[in-house]
Amino acid sequence: MAKRILAIETSCDETAVAVVEDGRKVISQVVLSSMDIFKEYGGVVPEIASRKHVEYIIPCLKEALKQAGMGFEDMDAVGVTYGPGLVGALLTGVSCAKAISMAAGLPLVPVNHIEGHVCANYLTHEELKPPFICLIISGGHSHIVKVEGYSSYKLIGRTRDDAVGEVFDKVARCLGLEYPGGPNVEKLAVEGKPVYEFPRALKGQKDFDFSFSGLKTAVINKLHNMEQAGESYNPADVASSFQKNVCNVLSENAIRACNYCDLPVLAICGGVSCNGAIRDRFVKECKKNGIKLYLPDKKWCTDNAAMIGSAAYYHFIEGKTAGLDLNAQPALKLC
Ligand code: KG4
Ligand code: ZN
Repeated sequence: MAKRILAIETSCDETAVAVVEDGRKVISQVVLSSMDIFKEYGGVVPEIASRKHVEYIIPCLKEALKQAGMGFEDMDAVGVTYGPGLVGALLTGVSCAKAISMAAGLPLVPVNHIEGHVCANYLTHEELKPPFICLIISGGHSHIVKVEGYSSYKLIGRTRDDAVGEVFDKVARCLGLEYPGGPNVEKLAVEGKPVYEFPRALKGQKDFDFSFSGLKTAVINKLHNMEQAGESYNPADVASSFQKNVCNVLSENAIRACNYCDLPVLAICGGVSCNGAIRDRFVKECKKNGIKLYLPDKKWCTDNAAMIGSAAYYHFIEGKTAGLDLNAQPALKLC
């Protein structure tokens, strides 16, 4: 019998509910985003995001069940993101999931948001199974992990400072682009050429860590210096040069990690994996290096509840459920 998960995601600025079957098949999925509100502030304001989740969660839940043509009685469990993320935002989803669990008698399955991103690949690629190497590139995280099993991860590398999405957003802001910066930097970069050479952090490294804060500072300084000197420049060239540097670092480290682990299967995930230039670079480099590449469908790259439903399924069948004392864990780690 198919197992159905009602999944809830509220870790940042997207309120999302989905119904997912057997960890792979999305029956329905609804996302209400408060992102547009944050354009004015240049980033997420946690208090506003939390209040928006409270406003959106019930309509979102009703719509997801309506689209599925199902009720609580058709579900086997309720899965919810309990970290990492903004505490007030997470608490909205956790409280809602606990209420459903209690009222409908459904087991409660806590999910790590970062693990959800990894599982976005299961929604796209039916045949994908662990083990594989996964590069997680989101607004809050930049990790390389070895996916040893469903819900079993080994950390291979991580950013020592900023996450790659965070740097896209910061560079976008300095270029006068709106939040969220990543998609806007990508659009602008298409019109430019990578004429500027920004420094490559951790050059000659033996490990698999990332460092993006130096790159961020180099881009900001370059813009500042050119403006001070009254030099004319094409912002699209800056965007393109920055993006090329990111492509170099991400692909080099991920491919080295595959070789180091002797595991020529690589998946990427997280909001930044929407980026066309990054996707194209991985296609090219993986082909060159004999690595089988899995890219999630773009609609599952940014925050959504379907990926949480997939992760929850694998925990649920392993009996990893929680009690009603489940709390939000803003700094939760994957491994
Ligand atoms: O995974 P996600 O939706 O949320 C987190 O868990 O953080 O990632 C959001 C991040 C933002 O920093 C956003 O600018 C970035 O993903 N992003 C992109 C693109 N689309 C979203 N970065 C580069 N290129 C894109 N096309
Ligand atoms: Zn995310």
